[in-house]
Amino acid sequence: MIKPRRIGHTTFETKDLDRQIAYWTEVVGLVLAEREKNRAFLASKTGLLVVQLEKADRAHCNRLSFEVAPNSDFGDLAKSLSADGITSELRNDSIPGMGQVLTFKDNKGTAIDLFKEWSYLGSHHQVSGVGPLKLGHVAFHCPDVKVVADFYAKVMGFKVSDWIEDWFVFMRCGPDHHTVNFVQGKTTRMHHIAFELKDWAHVLTACDYLGAQDIPIIWGPGRHGPGHNIFTYHRNPDDQIIELFTELDKMMDESLGYFDPRPWHRDKPQKPKVWVAMPRDIWGPPPTPDYLRQRD
Ligand SMILES: [Fe+2]
Repeated sequence: MIKPRRIGHTTFETKDLDRQIAYWTEVVGLVLAEREKNRAFLASKTGLLVVQLEKADRAHCNRLSFEVAPNSDFGDLAKSLSADGITSELRNDSIPGMGQVLTFKDNKGTAIDLFKEWSYLGSHHQVSGVGPLKLGHVAFHCPDVKVVADFYAKVMGFKVSDWIEDWFVFMRCGPDHHTVNFVQGKTTRMHHIAFELKDWAHVLTACDYLGAQDIPIIWGPGRHGPGHNIFTYHRNPDDQIIELFTELDKMMDESLGYFDPRPWHRDKPQKPKVWVAMPRDIWGPPPTPDYLRQRD
């Protein structure tokens, strides 16, 4: 079993590299750490690599990276993957700050890069726009959510934090309530990518900034049920949904089996469960049609 400790970065293919660089730096507030002809690498203000862009003929999220424990042996991990019928290879893609990676594909076709050697891409960057603290989670549509959830549990070592009925699962690989989530959909594609902000005041500032840029907030602000994060969603120029959130539930001690108590929890203690009753969200408006519409 792989057991990633945290998500590293997400790679997006895009038709318009310059437009996406402008969005990620000027609106989200990332730092352009390195630019090549057909690739760009963007870091958070703390210097964490969080987004990689690649020029292509479509807008698509094609890979995720995860950090494994520093004493991990890539040979052992490759053997473990092989025992599950998965082919992997060692690669060095010259990703800034990152050493060798062990690469394979998950069972919905997303490339996964495991890394254990990395360095900050600068520090204390001054940024414009929102300026998130870190990449929080990535959600995908997939035709058989149970099969993908089983892969992430059995091969990747993720734990299930919550289900919404049988069509939306939230999975964790560390204290955060979810690092990946999967929702039932007709095709396999990214549902949204989420960045953590410092606090509610930071979310408010982000909403004001989006408003000043004439970027509609398509859902929120509100406080979700599963994960209990304060959320807002908007779309980027490639029509992908970007979430800005804070106060996500954390399971500080796996052996206790409940999320760190918070006053907005309805369950006491708040344990992983299947959400069936409505309303799920603690407060906030319903999603707009622009959030609910399908991209393709
Ligand atoms: Fe989310």
